[in-house]
Amino acid sequence: MATQKLLCNLSLIFLLFFHFHYGTCELQLNYYSQTCPNAEEIVKEQVISLYHKHGNTAVSWLRTLFHDCMVQSCDASLLLESINGIQSEKISTRNMGMRNFKYINTIKDALESSCPMTVSCADILALSARDGAVMLGGPRVEMKTGRKDSKVSHLAEIDASLPNHNDSMMYVLARFQSVGIDVEGTVALLGAHSVGRVHCLNIVDRLYPTVDPTMDPNYAKYLMGRCPHPNPDPTVVEYARSDRESPMILDNMYYKNLMKNKGLLTVDQELLSNPITSPYVEKMAADNAYFHEQFSKALLILSENNPITGDDGEVRTDCRFVNRD
Ligand code: HEM
Ligand SMILES: *[C@@H]1O[C@H](CO)[C@@H](O)[C@H](O)[C@H]1NC(C)=O
Repeated sequence: MATQKLLCNLSLIFLLFFHFHYGTCELQLNYYSQTCPNAEEIVKEQVISLYHKHGNTAVSWLRTLFHDCMVQSCDASLLLESINGIQSEKISTRNMGMRNFKYINTIKDALESSCPMTVSCADILALSARDGAVMLGGPRVEMKTGRKDSKVSHLAEIDASLPNHNDSMMYVLARFQSVGIDVEGTVALLGAHSVGRVHCLNIVDRLYPTVDPTMDPNYAKYLMGRCPHPNPDPTVVEYARSDRESPMILDNMYYKNLMKNKGLLTVDQELLSNPITSPYVEKMAADNAYFHEQFSKALLILSENNPITGDDGEVRTDCRFVNRD
């Protein structure tokens, strides 16, 4: 650990001296190679075993990384519970429907028993999303580690950071641009909606009082069957699938559906109706390997958004709480 820090500081001085940017020092491949050599293996084993018990955990890890990283930093702030002056980000309406948080603790417990107080929750979120994508038939992303966990919640910043289901594509593109993800990358990342579910609350404004005229009528019929109430009770679990053919496979079916006007959220269908994004939709619909390649690149950029690497952060012992020390 000491040598790692020394090397990091030396290279920092070197890089500053030669006027390079010193971002390379922040995260690194295999950050835990000395302190917890099996860290990445342990995460992978846990993600696999959780997937076999509850397949949708793998789906959750993708959304969890997005909702953590897009709000300020990949710092596991999303995982904090409301206690001791902290207001949990989980109560935000943007985070509605998020699930499987308790299994993050399962992964953390496995790491704590091998390497106590070493592997951050922020790195667990990154690595589990990476390994979850593989379980869903998606690409494998080479991710760096070394993120620290925040000591605060960013609840107040969520609405201005995470796009809503009905925001304009120009707004969505600007949000992703602000974390270094270009148009092609944004189109690819939304392909995560190839897996999982959407609650009726986020769909009904496209169905009632009149059906969105851009929507395929048969798909609208399916959605109205799934969501028969114009004002769904938010406490009732009523949801629909974006990709009915392969809701557990991270593939380009999402783009094929968009091309048939079977996009679920307003933002999904906007990818096709917006002339800036539609050429990428067509390319991704035609070529799954291209989708996977762009998805990997964009997920990597997302996973490296503004990490905490110094003493501003910590390695939480329990992902739900700031350390008491
Ligand atoms: C403009 C950007 C985005 C918007 C507005 C958006 C919005 C939403 C909404 C409203 C839901 C349904 C939540 C529910 O009702 O339970 C959802 C689900 C989901 N989103 Fe996104 N999302 C966006 C981008 C992303 C990105 C970039 C990822 C990951 C890379 C992602 C991954 C997921 C996943 C996996 C689900 C399914 C969750 C589950 O089944 O539990 N989303 N998203
Ligand atoms: C977007 O949907 C939310 C509910 O999820 C609603 O409050 C808001 O008015 C909608 N915005 C637009 C522009 O339709």
